[in-house]
Amino acid sequence: MNIPLSKPWVTEEDIKAVEEVLRTPYLSLGPKLKEFESMLAGIAKRKYAVAVNSGTSALHLIIRSLGIKDGDEVITTPFSFVASSNCVLFERAKPVFVDIDPKTYNINPDLIEERITEKTKAILAVDVFGQPADWDKLTVIAKKHNLYLIEDSAEAIGSEYKGRPAGSFGVASVFAFYPNKQITTCEGGVLLTDDENIYKLSRSMRNQGRGEDESWLHHTRLGYNYRISDINCALGISQLKRLEKIIEMRDNVAKIYTQKLSEVEEIITPYVHPDTTKMSWFVYVIRLADRFGNVHRDQIIKELGNRQIQTRNYFEAIHLEPFYVEQFGYKKGDFPVTEFVSERTIALPFYTTISEEEIDYVVKNLKEVILEVKNS
Ligand SMILES: Cc1ncc(COP(=O)(O)O)c(C=O)c1O
Repeated sequence: MNIPLSKPWVTEEDIKAVEEVLRTPYLSLGPKLKEFESMLAGIAKRKYAVAVNSGTSALHLIIRSLGIKDGDEVITTPFSFVASSNCVLFERAKPVFVDIDPKTYNINPDLIEERITEKTKAILAVDVFGQPADWDKLTVIAKKHNLYLIEDSAEAIGSEYKGRPAGSFGVASVFAFYPNKQITTCEGGVLLTDDENIYKLSRSMRNQGRGEDESWLHHTRLGYNYRISDINCALGISQLKRLEKIIEMRDNVAKIYTQKLSEVEEIITPYVHPDTTKMSWFVYVIRLADRFGNVHRDQIIKELGNRQIQTRNYFEAIHLEPFYVEQFGYKKGDFPVTEFVSERTIALPFYTTISEEEIDYVVKNLKEVILEVKNS
């Protein structure tokens, strides 16, 4: 068996939906874009959605729409995909990291206030691996200090925090649709907001800074080409139609893994916080037990790879990425919880259509490899 880390689920219906668009003259900025945006706004219970060509583009548009610029600071997490803090660097502002909660792996709100300065403009929190951050606490802190609150929900479409949908918190949020996500558009993302100004600005900047009338050669501000094609949107619409089923199937995969791994003393299975009233699993990430630790993690990933089972060290700590070290002088020990976690985590093969037989195969090999590595 050859088991990948992730695999998109594309059905015949999806393919037909894409094909249909190709038979129309509307390949970009057409009716599928509008339809996709309206479905996404509904999922996040937002007034406005601006679909773009990636989650990173959506994050960048939020930062720019809020006027965050050189010299400003944005508080965020070092335990995330690098785009959530790169988007701050795009505007020459500074990401100021705050360590994470050791159980949920989300930003620890109790550590935020001590990092707020006169330069702080926003808090950008991430719903890591699909689990919503502590939005009630984050909202209180943001209001108290008059900061923008931004939700990077790239990994959490369909999740709920205290019954409220991921993507509905803060001034604006994003979902992302790379093929490893719960639903995919191949490449794509969306910005969600209730703020008319952010909506108008980001629509304009998505399309080369065109004015509100969107007349083709009238550019009122600096813009980008962050457009997403109607082909991508048609795929997204078709996938979204079975979002609930996808979430259910992924939840079932997570439950099977947790049940089969619960007896393995070297492994800590993912923690779901009681405030996460619905979990839309992006990835299934185990952590090696504290004492078993970091020395064995990379070897386990390598050995599983030799057995054609793809796993990954989700996430590398962002502050230790070479260009962050170079630019900001971060070093080991700066964010101890993030470092501790990121040295011990392994994302297991996880996708909507993975079979129980494949899960069994992963679990069996994982147990064998752990024993082998332990005794080596
Ligand atoms: C937390 C987080 N933020 C942002 C992104 C960026 O999304 P994209 O890859 O679509 O640019 C991702 C995607 O992997 C992500 O996981």
